[in-house]
Amino acid sequence: MEVYNTKFSKQADTDNFLSLPLYSPLPQQVAIVPDGTTCKEAALAVITRNIRKEDWDESFAIGDLGVMLKQYKRWKKELPRVEVFYSVSANALPPVINTMAALGCGFNCASKNEMALVLKCRVKPEKIFCVHTCKMLSHLTYARDNDVTMMTFDNEEELLKIQKYFPSARLILLFKVGESQAETNYETKFGASFEYCKFLIKKARQLELDISGISCHVASDRSNLKSISTAIEESRMLFDFACEVGCSIKLLDIGGGFPGTEKENTAPALPFETIAAAISDGLDKHFPDGCGVRIIAELGRYITGTAFGLVTNITAKKVAEDRVVYHIADTIYNSFSPDCPDAVKLAPVPLKSEESDIHPTTIYGVSCSGWDIVCKETLAKEANVGEWLYWKDHGGGAALVRFGFNGYSMYKGCYIITKSDWEELQAASTYPSMLPNTRDFI
Ligand SMILES: Cc1ncc(COP(=O)(O)O)c(C=O)c1O
Repeated sequence: MEVYNTKFSKQADTDNFLSLPLYSPLPQQVAIVPDGTTCKEAALAVITRNIRKEDWDESFAIGDLGVMLKQYKRWKKELPRVEVFYSVSANALPPVINTMAALGCGFNCASKNEMALVLKCRVKPEKIFCVHTCKMLSHLTYARDNDVTMMTFDNEEELLKIQKYFPSARLILLFKVGESQAETNYETKFGASFEYCKFLIKKARQLELDISGISCHVASDRSNLKSISTAIEESRMLFDFACEVGCSIKLLDIGGGFPGTEKENTAPALPFETIAAAISDGLDKHFPDGCGVRIIAELGRYITGTAFGLVTNITAKKVAEDRVVYHIADTIYNSFSPDCPDAVKLAPVPLKSEESDIHPTTIYGVSCSGWDIVCKETLAKEANVGEWLYWKDHGGGAALVRFGFNGYSMYKGCYIITKSDWEELQAASTYPSMLPNTRDFI
């Protein structure tokens, strides 16, 4: 006999759990702040004015939308021909999406939830592309039913699935360049080799499917400029091959993986401008201006990495012989996910920045998991239980999940923009009506 909560049917029980209203004292409108105000100062103001200690000790992110604007403009200065598609997986907070939408950017979404979120932010489906090459069928049909026609693939089975359920989709073939030294496993998991790409192009043609583009994460091994030019050159060869078999491809997607902070510890780290110059040279050589190919990039933490700081409360402190150990109200299953590679590269500082001694420090996450170690070894200023720690440059790789491991709630944000950046953002916006709502104080 099945026994379950008499208050809810089985179905309703699940739905109800996911739709529990989340209490949050964080202001949701973007605060327009005096020029020079930092996220750290704004976080302190939010904690002092909005938060009653007994009611709220969850972590939250605080973002400066002006930093996103600066990163966008920096991109456009170096690579004016490359259209920006914002990668929602990097940071899915709605004002982030609205800001990018106002600037006229497109969006890449990995799943149904990400597509739904972007559509809910009033973005048109033609501005969205679905970047998962091995889509769950229900996500593929969601894309179809919501007119999201652009999508990536890297294998024959996916082509057959698309032919059956969404034959009018516009396909982008994800090409994997050589053996990359990339710091993630993305290239191992996704992408087709050069020879397999040729097979897939012919197969798609045979199935009467439309290959609209080639995608390639040209900067995934960004410690090596040669790999960037090879990626662009080999993409060109695939365009030429497609043309030979009667398939005219009109879009090149140069992917993501651009550094989110200047301090990323990829060895040796290259500044964005150096990477951009290598890309620009490759594009000028193989896809010159006027060649009729639209060029796009999938930018994630490059846009949001430095725009957000994270504030976490200390729930416990244990002083050992050789170190201080803290437990904080966040976890590797939330803001410190392994997909947020920049998260713990800078040691946190006590938000109030009071003078205190520096000690070897270990920081544990709040969940009951023994794996939940946020920071095994760092040097940090001493702080006490109940105080807040501030983590700089923490805006990339944050997951879009309502409830995480052990039931701890997930990534939440509040937002600022300085007065002059707000004016600049309004002026730079192609669709100003998409901008998030603002107010004049924190
Ligand atoms: C398919 C795809 N493109 C682009 C990105 C953006 O990556 P990054 O933030 O490293 O630029 C991601 C991140 O998850 C992704 O999954």
